[in-house]
Amino acid sequence: MADKVYVDNTEATAAWNTVLFDRFSQYRHIFVVALKRFGDVAIAEGPPRAGDRILDIGCGFGDTAQQLAQVAGPSSHVVGVDAAERFIDAARDEAARAGVENVEFVVADVQTEPLSGPYDYAFARMGTMFFANPVAALRNVRQSLRPDGTLTMVVWRRKLDNEWMQRSEEVVDRLVPKPNAEESDALTCGPGPFSMANADTTSDILRAAGFERIALRRVDLDMLVGQDAQEAVEVALALGPAAETVRLAGDDAERVRPLIERDLRALAGEYTSASGAIVAPASAWVVSAHAPAAG
Ligand SMILES: C[S@@+](CC[C@H](N)C(=O)[O-])C[C@H]1O[C@@H](n2cnc3c(N)ncnc32)[C@H](O)[C@@H]1O
Repeated sequence: MADKVYVDNTEATAAWNTVLFDRFSQYRHIFVVALKRFGDVAIAEGPPRAGDRILDIGCGFGDTAQQLAQVAGPSSHVVGVDAAERFIDAARDEAARAGVENVEFVVADVQTEPLSGPYDYAFARMGTMFFANPVAALRNVRQSLRPDGTLTMVVWRRKLDNEWMQRSEEVVDRLVPKPNAEESDALTCGPGPFSMANADTTSDILRAAGFERIALRRVDLDMLVGQDAQEAVEVALALGPAAETVRLAGDDAERVRPLIERDLRALAGEYTSASGAIVAPASAWVVSAHAPAAG
């Protein structure tokens, strides 16, 4: 949340390893499917090359690591890194079950721990917005790349253009006094999903981290937020800005939960597609940047 200063990633990592892992797992069929549509655009536009050594930053369940291993072929090698041990455990299991041999998964805070390398290609699908110090984290990524190595990442654009997240937060804000993240015991996910939404800020962060030839391309897609209104309400209250406010507000939010759910259901009605699924406009940046060439 914006009203809190984060000195390191301890709290965010604890959140990703507990409540956020549980919620991401429960609604994986919504979250990962939505993120995959953006990730697929980024990989199609700037794919790794055959045989590349690849780093997947904040790899979650490791599905993008497996995808990159497939795109770059059997002579490639992918290292998926995530600060949350439970994601890495899941990623290892899933890759083993899928029989994908050229991937490995490592528990590490991308901001503070060695990332090995050198890599030819680093990738992140919504995995770079949660660092307390994004310049330090991306400098670490850049130092793990070979000269002229590539970074491709997908980050959310502004909340206003991610209508379900924006408007579901507005519903909660109308009913719940804004909690102070500094005073709440609830774990937050650090700077948060929209911390790289500003193109100038993000390109400045990358430049300060030592990247060159930085480009951001806006990608707008429709995003499934629930198979029906009830699931859309659950998803809004599971992960994202509305969910974060409800968690931090604690009893203040629980007291009005029936009203929050009623208003979110009404909001979902505005986004009901012909099939009955709830689909809302969403928007992200596909960012590319390069480590300086040698010499
Ligand atoms: C929104 S999830 C995205 C996961 C995955 N990339 C995907 O698209 O499904 C963000 C991920 O970043 C990880 N993460 C957050 N802070 C991190 C850090 N400092 N170092 C490494 N991973 C981190 C979280 O544990 C989580 O798995």
